[in-house]
Amino acid sequence: MTGPPYPIPLEPLPGFWMVLGQGVSLEEACEDHLVLTYGVGKRTRLTYRMTSLSDLLMELCSGISLARLATQHEALDVCGQIALRELLGALNQRRLLALAWPDTEHPALRISTAAGWPDCQRRHLPGDVCIQLSALAAVHRIDDEMVLDYPPRGLRLGLLDPLITGWLLSFCSPGLLADHIGEAVACGRSESDVRCLIEMLVAWGILAPTPANRDDDREILALWECHALHFYTESHSGYNWGQLGTVPGASTRRPSPPLNRPRPSLARISLPVPQTNVDSGILAALSERRSVRYFAADRPVPLAVLSTFFQATVAIQGTDSIEFPGTGEGQSMDIAYGPSPSAGACHALEIHLCVGGGQVLPPGIYHYDAIAHQLCKIATAEVSDALRQGAAGSMGHHQPPPLAIVITAHFERVFWKYRGIAMANVLRDVGALYQTLYLGAQALGLRGCAIGNVDVAAFERINGMPFWREGAVGMFAFGYPAPSTGEC
Ligand SMILES: Cc1cc2nc3c(=O)[nH]c(=O)nc-3n(C[C@H](O)[C@H](O)[C@H](O)COP(=O)(O)O)c2cc1C
Repeated sequence: MTGPPYPIPLEPLPGFWMVLGQGVSLEEACEDHLVLTYGVGKRTRLTYRMTSLSDLLMELCSGISLARLATQHEALDVCGQIALRELLGALNQRRLLALAWPDTEHPALRISTAAGWPDCQRRHLPGDVCIQLSALAAVHRIDDEMVLDYPPRGLRLGLLDPLITGWLLSFCSPGLLADHIGEAVACGRSESDVRCLIEMLVAWGILAPTPANRDDDREILALWECHALHFYTESHSGYNWGQLGTVPGASTRRPSPPLNRPRPSLARISLPVPQTNVDSGILAALSERRSVRYFAADRPVPLAVLSTFFQATVAIQGTDSIEFPGTGEGQSMDIAYGPSPSAGACHALEIHLCVGGGQVLPPGIYHYDAIAHQLCKIATAEVSDALRQGAAGSMGHHQPPPLAIVITAHFERVFWKYRGIAMANVLRDVGALYQTLYLGAQALGLRGCAIGNVDVAAFERINGMPFWREGAVGMFAFGYPAPSTGEC
């Protein structure tokens, strides 16, 4: 089992322990591997090359303090360090690891991540700093356990001790660090463990100094509303905690609802026979449009066709500026017009083209500048392959589409203007854009398929900025249709 170098905490944080996640167990097997059991009967071999590594991994069963893990990691040679980080990273990527605080026998908190451990560097805080719980943290119950979720970092804190839960919730009102530490010490916790916990919660953003530092990231995150953030992360791969995709009737014994909802008690007005003599390419394209999931592998899309497709479907056609009177100096907004409607003319969706082998453009990911009508390469062929492979999986097969568009939202543009409906408007824009892409492709002899899921964390790594500044919101696979599938 190998994985990308997922960040793992190797800092000697007092009070923090690394443990196997809930329902995960590790057994020693013969030769050079351990057997990991998790989920509903899932088993995986964990292959190691050094006995010292297997001993260290077995310690995860009862928990290993981060202080000891850091020391043991330092004591390994470079190959051992890489192997350990790879193994822990692979476990972490499958969400099989957690941090326990402040001990493993009766932990008060079990901290897990849906995305990869954020920065675990301690930053000293003076005792007179005032801190408060982030407005983006949400406490809710899952089965019998209360949890605190903080989606910007993909963190979930299992709240296992009522006293510490109450103490954590007391951060709802701003209070001095020294006072908070004193209260936790009065609950029987060690001062150094509590200080370290608070410093980490501040580093991760779950607790924030008040008034907040006015750095750019915090200001943009402050534009998000709690409901939008939780909805966004829970409905995309990468930061979500539950199941995604088709789970027919999972939560009910009821049959699937009918397609039509007749209203038998109401009078009906029969509509005239629709006109068939309207000469319109759009009407024809609307009636012929279908999703196509298999594409010709040996028919590259010429650059001129790609250019026409982008010009027709996503290029900005004009710009303007609107003023917001009475909102203070400089409160104006640049807006745009294009082939798809966009709520508030925000046009906050960005287009990224994933190109596979055998196309005119070299494989990789390209950002499309919708104003200049130009492309620039932002990522390698391997990354493009991974995203196109994900699209193939969503289309129910293994053959990646030759081309795919990843749609991201520049959230700040929409959230700057709207409250409450901002995320809904982003997704409405995506829906409108999907149809424009379908029709544009149809008109050019291309075919495509909207994709219902995209890995937010994967695109975040490509884009080099947190999802809450610019995050993936959709995908569209396209190319020339495969001649044999009979899909169109
Ligand atoms: C928002 C949205 C998400 C979709 N996601 C997927 C997907 O992940 N995989 C897939 O094969 N088709 C996907 N589709 C295509 C639908 O399955 C398709 O539109 C539907 O089956 C109707 O077929 P038609 O488009 O040929 O009329 C999606 C369509 C929309 C609008």
